[in-house]
Amino acid sequence: MATKILGIGSYVPEKVLTNKDLEKIVDTSDEWITTRTGIKERRICSPSEASSDLGYKSALNAIANAGILKEKIEMIITATITPDMPFPSTSCIMQKKLGLDNIPCFDINVACSGFIYGLEIARNFIDSGTYSTILIIATDCMSSVTDYTDRSTCILLGDGSASAVVAKSDEGPGILGSYLGASGKYAELLYMPAGGSRQPASIGTVSQRLHYMKMEGSTVYKIAINSMVDAVNMVLKKTGISKDDISLFIPHQANLRIIQSVGKNLGIPMEKTFINIERYGNMSAASVGVALDEAARAGKVRKGDIICMVAFGSGFVWASNIIKI
Ligand code: UT7
Repeated sequence: MATKILGIGSYVPEKVLTNKDLEKIVDTSDEWITTRTGIKERRICSPSEASSDLGYKSALNAIANAGILKEKIEMIITATITPDMPFPSTSCIMQKKLGLDNIPCFDINVACSGFIYGLEIARNFIDSGTYSTILIIATDCMSSVTDYTDRSTCILLGDGSASAVVAKSDEGPGILGSYLGASGKYAELLYMPAGGSRQPASIGTVSQRLHYMKMEGSTVYKIAINSMVDAVNMVLKKTGISKDDISLFIPHQANLRIIQSVGKNLGIPMEKTFINIERYGNMSAASVGVALDEAARAGKVRKGDIICMVAFGSGFVWASNIIKI
């Protein structure tokens, strides 16, 4: 028996925010954003949409794609850094929306690595025999923590969600292995200072704009490349797979230049690399999952293919995995 992704689904909000729209808000240009990041547009939630609303829609798509009854789900893991509220967990909110009850639910806060961390946590619960069918929902409304007066960050971020049903299957091989990493010493290079117990919300934190994401972009850029290259090399070594055997490479979509550098360092050609950053920007936890779902729907995922995913984000936290279809 293998542990595999039985179904995948995604959802992005309807509203499109283009580079031209951003030109009207901050001192930037379509030309700068396109050449420095590869992003042309991103999706933004409506005022009535939160992370669980996007997550619910992607979860329904994943459950339908898996071809199972939702009642088969034994656990919900939601990966998000933009929960509906600090507590209860967005997973509990999702459980109610899905009409399920009395199954374990919890959130993980691993930023852009959420989809891959979620898959690995699910795989371990399944391989240990504790559960057999787990729903992972990677969902982020980055627009809710974006400072639209900060041109160095507001051009990068978008909203979206991806879900996967992970289950035991007699049609293997499935998830071959994963590599998870983190380094808290970099916490303040990419973070949201207020709104937690360190600096609870106050008039002062709001007026100082401390409820928005802060990032030292150029330092993050360099560490992101090194960490993602390292994570892919580690998972290749762990699984005994050669980089030449990779049919499809799905890196986190934070910056096209990061994706190109990671591919070049690893010797993985761009033809094998899935890119959708031009339409969505960085959707944090959702990016890798949305890319996998779009690749599958575009017919780029075939029986026997070996897929390598890698992500990097706030923490810093990074992760990679290899799955065989
Ligand atoms: O999710 C995972 C984590 N996130 C990332 O991996 C993102 C990592 N970082 C990046 O993608 C890039 O560092 C950015 C896209 C954020 C910035 O690109 P950069 O090439 O590193 O630019 P920079 O920060 O070195 O800034 C270069 C110049 C500066 O002007 P001066 O000081 O040289 O006059 C910035 O003020 O570009 C300016 N700049 C902009 N100009 C026009 C910064 N943002 C903008 C902008 N439009 N939106």
